[in-house]
Amino acid sequence: MSTATQTAERHTARQGYDGDLRVAVLGVGMMGQDHARRLAQLTKGARLVAVSDVDAARTDAVAAEFGVRAVHDPVAAITDDEVDAVVIATPGFTHEDLVLEALEAGKPTLCEKPLTTSPETSRKVVEAEHALGRRLVQVGFMRRFDAEYEQLRGVIAAGELGRPLFLHCAHRNATTPPNFSSEMLILDSVVHEVDVVRYLLGEEITAITVLTPGRTSAAPEGLQDPQFVLMETAGGTLVDVEIFVNTTFGYEVRTELVAERGSATIGLGVGLVQRSAAGWGGGIAADFKERFGAAYDTEFQRWVDAVRGGAGVDGPGVWDGYAAAAVCAAGVESLRTGRRVEVDLGPRP
Ligand SMILES: NC(=O)c1ccc[n+]([C@@H]2O[C@H](COP(=O)([O-])OP(=O)(O)OC[C@H]3O[C@@H](n4cnc5c(N)ncnc54)[C@H](O)[C@@H]3O)[C@@H](O)[C@H]2O)c1
Repeated sequence: MSTATQTAERHTARQGYDGDLRVAVLGVGMMGQDHARRLAQLTKGARLVAVSDVDAARTDAVAAEFGVRAVHDPVAAITDDEVDAVVIATPGFTHEDLVLEALEAGKPTLCEKPLTTSPETSRKVVEAEHALGRRLVQVGFMRRFDAEYEQLRGVIAAGELGRPLFLHCAHRNATTPPNFSSEMLILDSVVHEVDVVRYLLGEEITAITVLTPGRTSAAPEGLQDPQFVLMETAGGTLVDVEIFVNTTFGYEVRTELVAERGSATIGLGVGLVQRSAAGWGGGIAADFKERFGAAYDTEFQRWVDAVRGGAGVDGPGVWDGYAAAAVCAAGVESLRTGRRVEVDLGPRP
């Protein structure tokens, strides 16, 4: 028996979670602080017990804010006996090592997207979890917990509109942070569409083509913004994504399904519609935290419930993280070469 299997079995033996699930958050930058607050103040059945960041001062400040332990070494936080489960909210390039450490320690993990930064390393994680024989890693694709996406999935699954023919998606951000590269439009933004397409249709993506229309004058020098992405699925549905991240005015994420006998649209943001002398219209979310805030809350509650109930995961797992990494790597290749790139995921363990 491998050390990893023994460790995981020991952990299973002492799991039971009579009390609250004791969670450590690794990486307390923008997302990690948000998740720490969620766990400390909102999620039922969970208790934030520690935070850890390579930035020691930040670790201390966030720990003091929430009255929890500061652990300066993230690996020590993972193996800590007083920590039942971990949330990884460090930059993507650190995820592979931290997730593998968590698997080795048998600790249930909610890892922010991406699972890792390449298909090869994501597959390594798929195989490490498979070797343990139980699901321990959930990937933070929060759109799966958004009420509108769940509804649209229900419409497709019910079959009343017939076979899905097209998904037209738009993903628009007001501005980009400094040093945002053309590849990051695919790796950081379109990655969410890649996951929701797989979630909505229940099919793998088999090819991707990235086209580069004229640049917006609002984009920083050298940034190819917008881009237009075409994805083909195993079942023959064609998906287009307009990715435009310097719209200057707000955050819009929209999906229109066109099926044989009807269409359905989500993400119109038509909560309150106002009429006045200035015209009529509704509001536009300022950013993803506003648009998907409730989805993060649901994601965390369902993850904690699943871990406490022994399932480990309730939502996208390592295979989903791997598939997203593979499609995005093909997308980056298409962006660079201008060609259609096929995606072959290989056998699923
Ligand atoms: N699901 C979503 O909608 C969504 C949105 C934004 C970001 N994210 C993801 O969340 C993650 C974090 O993004 P962010 O915007 O919060 O980044 P950030 O830069 O604001 O924060 C990252 C933090 O991790 C720390 N860190 C770096 N290496 C570390 C290590 N090895 N161990 C411990 N701490 C380490 C940094 O010091 C920093 O405090 C990324 O994977 C990103 O892709 C997801």
